[in-house]
Amino acid sequence: MSAPLTIALSKGRIFKETLPLLAAAGIVPIDDPDTSRKLILDTQQADVKLVIIRATDVPTYVQYGAADMGVAGKDVLLEHGGEGLYEPLDLNIARCRLMVAGHPGQPPRLSRPRVATKYANTTRRWFADQGRQVEVIKLYGSMELAPLVGLADYIVDVVDTGNTLKANGLAPLEHIADISSRLVINKAAMKMKHARIKAIMARMAAAVSV
Ligand code: ATP
Ligand code: PRP
Repeated sequence: MSAPLTIALSKGRIFKETLPLLAAAGIVPIDDPDTSRKLILDTQQADVKLVIIRATDVPTYVQYGAADMGVAGKDVLLEHGGEGLYEPLDLNIARCRLMVAGHPGQPPRLSRPRVATKYANTTRRWFADQGRQVEVIKLYGSMELAPLVGLADYIVDVVDTGNTLKANGLAPLEHIADISSRLVINKAAMKMKHARIKAIMARMAAAVSV
């Protein structure tokens, strides 16, 4: 049997949308993360395991080699910084946009505006690059609430249909980046398990919809 291979995925949209791509590479999970409480899922290949973690933790597991490869949104990768990772393949799934949003038509405040986000590093970079002074407030979810209750003037979050912003009386204001999920590979694993990883990558790449 070859050396075990571990793939990090998050539950929900990334897991669901990655499944057909993994299947194209012959990797089919035996357990369903939505019903199983297991954090390490077996697959039909005895030496391939899936670890199920928070979306924001995927780059960290792969960076440290706790997983050989993984799937993470570009939003999460921009925020992480990408240290220790190769990012060889755009899977073209979980597509959305990273945006600044806020109350439409609200005049800019003279003092330092507050921006609430879970993307604190990316947000600081976005405003600093333009020489705009803001105070970044780190949140862990439901960013859309922050402008409604006076916690922040703006938010930085991912937007897909725009329905969440609209339902809360907010609007997209500035486009930071187009987002999709990427295959990420640990740099050492890419050397040590090169042939295996290359073969999986090629089969996944052939199954990516354009
Ligand atoms: P965490 O559990 O770490 O807070 P999360 O709740 O953001 O992460 P998901 O909602 O599963 O996790 O999102 C995973 C990825 O999918 C995000 O990093 C982003 O790239 C993308 N994504 C998030 N929301 C949407 C959306 N509404 N439409 C399309 N893609 C999205
Ligand atoms: C994300 C994001 C926004 C929403 C944007 O949340 O944090 O709140 O999606 O999508 P929209 O523009 O289509 O409304 P979450 O992961 O909770 O999205 P979900 O509602 O798809 O689960």
